[in-house]
Amino acid sequence: MPTLTKLYTMQEASQHNTKDDCWIVVDNKVYDVTSYLEEHPGGDDVVLASTAKDATDDFEDAGHSESARELLESFCIGELDTSAPAIPELEISSKKQYAQKVMNLTKQYWTIPVAVVGISVVVGPLVLAQEVKQYNI
Ligand code: HEM
Repeated sequence: MPTLTKLYTMQEASQHNTKDDCWIVVDNKVYDVTSYLEEHPGGDDVVLASTAKDATDDFEDAGHSESARELLESFCIGELDTSAPAIPELEISSKKQYAQKVMNLTKQYWTIPVAVVGISVVVGPLVLAQEVKQYNI
């Protein structure tokens, strides 16, 4: 039978970053380790410091045993939605998107250069005529 895997964005997982509600992300999997925090042999602070980010390196660097890895699996609640950017604002826009943005801006603000040219066409000769009159050129 197919199993349904719950997907979480990094942004969503990042919100669970307290002693009472602690999720970590290791190898693109999401773990709710709240109930384990107090038992953690390395202390709860190191685990808390690994929330709100990809904790894979932190977890690996601690040199955890095979049994620690098995224990970790028991806290798995889902997987990371890798299609969503970690921080939406930092989504790298493609060249196509950039070109589209420029097109939109052009459509929106085309009146500005047209107005500048229009004003200079009308005001220029007036100023010139004024000066001709003033200095009798
Ligand atoms: C990602 C954040 C984590 C960091 C930075 C971290 C760090 C550490 C450190 C430094 C130790 C060594 C403690 C000592 O020598 O006294 C340790 C031990 C241990 N940790 Fe973590 N830990 C993390 C997450 C977890 C998680 C989520 C679990 C299990 C759910 C876990 C399970 C264990 C176990 C069982 C040990 C005992 C030694 C072993 O069996 O490897 N740790 N951890």
